[in-house]
Amino acid sequence: MFPGAIAPAAPIAFDEVADFIAASTFDKPTLVISRARVAAQYDALAAGLGRARIHYAVKANPAPEIIRMLVKRGSRFDAASRGEIELCLSQGAKGRDISFGNTVKRPADIAFAYDAGVTLFAADSEAEIDKIRDHAPEARVYLRVIVENSSADWPLSRKFGCARSALPGLLDYACGQGVKVAGLSFHVGSQTRRAEFWTPVLDQIAELWHAARAAGHDLTVLNLGGGFPASYENTVEGATPYAAAVMQAVAERFGDVPYIMAEPGRGLVAEAGHIAAEVMLVSRKSPDDLHRWVYLDIGMFSGLAETMGEAIRYVITTPRDGGEVGPCVLAGPSCDSADILYEQRPVMLPLALQCGDKVTIRTCGAYTSSYSSVGFNGFPPLDVIVL
Ligand SMILES: Cc1ncc(COP(=O)(O)O)c(C=O)c1O
Repeated sequence: MFPGAIAPAAPIAFDEVADFIAASTFDKPTLVISRARVAAQYDALAAGLGRARIHYAVKANPAPEIIRMLVKRGSRFDAASRGEIELCLSQGAKGRDISFGNTVKRPADIAFAYDAGVTLFAADSEAEIDKIRDHAPEARVYLRVIVENSSADWPLSRKFGCARSALPGLLDYACGQGVKVAGLSFHVGSQTRRAEFWTPVLDQIAELWHAARAAGHDLTVLNLGGGFPASYENTVEGATPYAAAVMQAVAERFGDVPYIMAEPGRGLVAEAGHIAAEVMLVSRKSPDDLHRWVYLDIGMFSGLAETMGEAIRYVITTPRDGGEVGPCVLAGPSCDSADILYEQRPVMLPLALQCGDKVTIRTCGAYTSSYSSVGFNGFPPLDVIVL
């Protein structure tokens, strides 16, 4: 807790989202998400993170009501775009509390952010440093580094970050351009299920950190990124002990860093929301087909993009649970044949399941509404109800 923060949210003893879904009818797929649940998770993460400051990764769920609640709780924000910065500002965040974390930014958006008071920007290349030099001259930059992170369920390596071997050159380049490099950032990979998986990654970054400081770079900002997990098929460690274990590992390797920031997205909002959806068809491809095909009214393009590669395994409950179950291929409603959610590892669902049955897809507060298309094939985008 920091000065001015409001009292911790009471522990949530019930699943208000599941209760709401059970008591309601929906005419389209709907994400229902609980602000109280996000608030409690924010407090739990903050308790474990200690003096590290949370910059909520807005991309995980940009519902304005959630942003506003987090502003009131004292959260800071990691924004990926001008749109996300505008959203945070519109909900009461100050520019100084927003970091512009995308390493690929439009020059005009850098200028916009800088004028709005944003002072912390990410970069991973000389060309991006040039843009920041030109459009945000007094800004502070953290350089993102690629880490090896094979332990995450949703790895985020390759696309963002400079190679570790390139960091010294990039630091020197920024210095030569008069750009102030304040620190380093990385992403351990989303849905890193266990805190101990962080240690090899922290070792990689600590080595670079100490070498950069020894070379005369005054690094003061360590950005831990996201990676904090949610309970899908498997229950993960509680947010407080998990975050505390990460911070312990950070302290052992980095010592006293003036500003440590963490950017939880999934770990903050995923468990606070479930999706109410409906079965559109149950069929078999032939009479002796062992697997049924179950088609839902929501799919890969209307909110469940993270089923790509079957990486994120959502738990699905139905009113027919308790009866006999059998394997099914689960698919979305669109005419795109890529719109299959789970096939390699089929889902066990009640044999009695039929068209019109309501299903609840659990732990969907992160990366669902923000991934939903505007209306691929004319299916409506994911509706959102914030409790
Ligand atoms: C820069 C950055 N920070 C934080 C996050 C949030 O990660 P997570 O949802 O694993 O917490 C992401 C996710 O893509 C990211 O790109």
